[in-house]
Amino acid sequence: MSIVPAVSAWPSAPLAGKVVLVTGGANGIGRGIAQAVLGAGGQVMIGDLDVGAGKACLAEWDRPADAAFRKLDITAEASARGFVAAALKRFGRIDGLVNNAGIAGAHGTALADMEWSEWQRRLSSLHGAFLCSKHALPALAAHGGGAILNIASTRAQQSEPNSEAYAAAKGGLVAFTHALALSAGPAVRVNSISPGWVATGAWQAPARRRTPSLSKADHAQHPVGRVGQPDDIGALAVFLLSDMAGFITGQDHIVDGGMTRKMIYVD
Ligand SMILES: NC(=O)c1ccc[n+]([C@@H]2O[C@H](COP(=O)([O-])OP(=O)(O)OC[C@H]3O[C@@H](n4cnc5c(N)ncnc54)[C@H](O)[C@@H]3O)[C@@H](O)[C@H]2O)c1
Repeated sequence: MSIVPAVSAWPSAPLAGKVVLVTGGANGIGRGIAQAVLGAGGQVMIGDLDVGAGKACLAEWDRPADAAFRKLDITAEASARGFVAAALKRFGRIDGLVNNAGIAGAHGTALADMEWSEWQRRLSSLHGAFLCSKHALPALAAHGGGAILNIASTRAQQSEPNSEAYAAAKGGLVAFTHALALSAGPAVRVNSISPGWVATGAWQAPARRRTPSLSKADHAQHPVGRVGQPDDIGALAVFLLSDMAGFITGQDHIVDGGMTRKMIYVD
């Protein structure tokens, strides 16, 4: 007798029972991902240099049992180690790490004039992903089913002038993702999301919060008809962190409203 494949219901809380760390989780895309984790039934520890924004998240979410904040500098190894240790102390386990923190602006000084210190600073998202992954991996592997998610950028594939450091950081994150997937599997899956244009003004700390000023042309250059929002990234993050994505690792996932699929011939 053959076995009939079951019709399975999708889980209503795909991250129930899971603890997720989000670096740079106090503002912008990181906050969008952290809120999506909470909405999906998970618990979240956000780490950020911006202490005021982190405390504002906790106050506005008002979910003391499920959300915590710790000051974090992803470029300092002791800080990354302390972030992971604090999450383990608070929640007892770690199931997901989202390496999101970084310098959001792509444009820097022209290469010929760039100081070594600026180059280093603009590569912080790559350096931080190394440090935080290094210290989180043992706990992520401990239960099986762990997941790392690196926030790269469509600028890993496309560029404008004077964005070499940012492009190198994001291209580096995409490569770091597939390399680590090979080393960390099968206990831990590793993926990246490459966002396109995401307007983060409404997802900043209260004092800086504003409605993004976007033109019709800004929206129209996206095949979906609009610029992205942090919760657009949060939606895919939840899926990739969940057990539903158990057969997906080592991949970069572009979330850009179709912008990188659009021909740019001028009529
Ligand atoms: N917004 C976009 O259009 C876009 C597009 C593609 C990729 N990204 C990437 O998404 C990520 C988040 O960007 P965003 O637009 O939300 O920026 P954002 O500035 O709104 O948020 C970045 C957060 O990271 C924190 N941070 C910066 N350096 C840190 C450090 N050393 N240690 C700990 N925290 C630190 C900041 O305090 C802030 O809370 C970045 O990696 C960025 O490169 C953004």
